[in-house]
Amino acid sequence: MEVAGIISELYDVAVLPGVRRPMALGFKSDEISRFVTIEYPNAPPVFQPFKAAPAAQTAPRQPAAAPGYRFQMSVDMTVTAVLQQYHPLTFPPLAEQLRGRSLREPLVTAVARVGDEPIAMALAEIAPDNAGAHLLSCFVATAHRRHGIATRLLAHLQQALAQRGLRYLDLSYSTDWPSLPVVEHFLARYGWLPPQTLLYQYKVTYDIGSAAWLHDAPPLPDGCELFPWSDLQPAKHQSIQRKLKTGECPANLDPFQADAHLAFNSVVLRHGGDVAGWMVTHQAATDAIQYTSFFLRPDLQRQGLGLALLAAAIRPQVDSDVPYGIWQVAASNEPMLAFVRRYLQPYAMKQTERRVARQVLGGE
Ligand SMILES: CC(C)(COP(=O)(O)OP(=O)(O)OC[C@H]1O[C@@H](n2cnc3c(N)ncnc32)[C@H](O)[C@@H]1OP(=O)(O)O)[C@@H](O)C(=O)NCCC(=O)NCCS
Repeated sequence: MEVAGIISELYDVAVLPGVRRPMALGFKSDEISRFVTIEYPNAPPVFQPFKAAPAAQTAPRQPAAAPGYRFQMSVDMTVTAVLQQYHPLTFPPLAEQLRGRSLREPLVTAVARVGDEPIAMALAEIAPDNAGAHLLSCFVATAHRRHGIATRLLAHLQQALAQRGLRYLDLSYSTDWPSLPVVEHFLARYGWLPPQTLLYQYKVTYDIGSAAWLHDAPPLPDGCELFPWSDLQPAKHQSIQRKLKTGECPANLDPFQADAHLAFNSVVLRHGGDVAGWMVTHQAATDAIQYTSFFLRPDLQRQGLGLALLAAAIRPQVDSDVPYGIWQVAASNEPMLAFVRRYLQPYAMKQTERRVARQVLGGE
């Protein structure tokens, strides 16, 4: 039995004799125009949208059929449904991805089954601009690898996305994935645009506790004070929101992203009553804190305040039982890269790159 999407009430369940996959689509939502299912084990996918979908400009590739597998698309999955039904078939694990941010529903899935058992899944999230999608996960159970399953899952997924009018599919991946050679071979083989390095990631250890700059920060200039983010008054939240709206603070440094996972060592810098900087951190895993958003008002930069802000956030972690700090710096942010290379990289046990690749889908 497969129940996808939000069910508020389920009653009088009956089994229909002789019917293999009874299904009812409601008229209240637009689900009826979006639902697509592919149930033909050895045949190319058949799409039967109820509403005319925009035609794809480029025909998606059709890999050779692997016998015994059947593929099923769903374009209206909730996060809860994916977690309940397919979590072991996600990589990176979906629960881990949800620690960093919330996902936009509905999600799109392509699932491969043997009999009724799901053995592989590709999962995509529609981008906020509704022009493309992000591939969140693609996973094939070990026993079924190297049978072209991932290739077919992605072909199905791409075709469904193109039929919905989406123009691109992005994949963001990390150079420390065990499957890196397979992933990059796949991208090159199946016509993805060349990957770009988006950001550098450093995994810093407890050793940073020995850094002199962590303890020898000069006194703060008059009118400046550092205090925990949790002590920030709600009225000050509004002043930060204003800074984000006016562009005074770049949107990618939004300190409210992933609020639910805020870590204990987030700190704020106040200058003359104004919130002038912050280092906002998140619990990325039980053993790691991610240093997510580091902002300092431009007129206060280059006075040692950045280092003081950093030290105020790092010191409580060094005194805690969370051993790792994760730092991410955009590849385009040269000044910050230079800063991180000087002060943090010496204590990094691991350095990885986050790369992004794009497949042009041809939807309109
Ligand atoms: C990466 C993964 C999804 C590939 O699944 P799969 O069904 O085995 O892949 P396919 O059989 O469709 O193979 C795709 C291509 O990669 C190649 N490939 C797959 N596994 C390989 C391996 N272990 N070594 C070398 N090449 C490999 C295939 O030969 C094929 O290339 P080709 O078309 O040029 O012959 C699977 O290994 C997996 O689930 N890994 C763990 C999760 C993961 O890392 N996912 C990536 C997230 S996007």
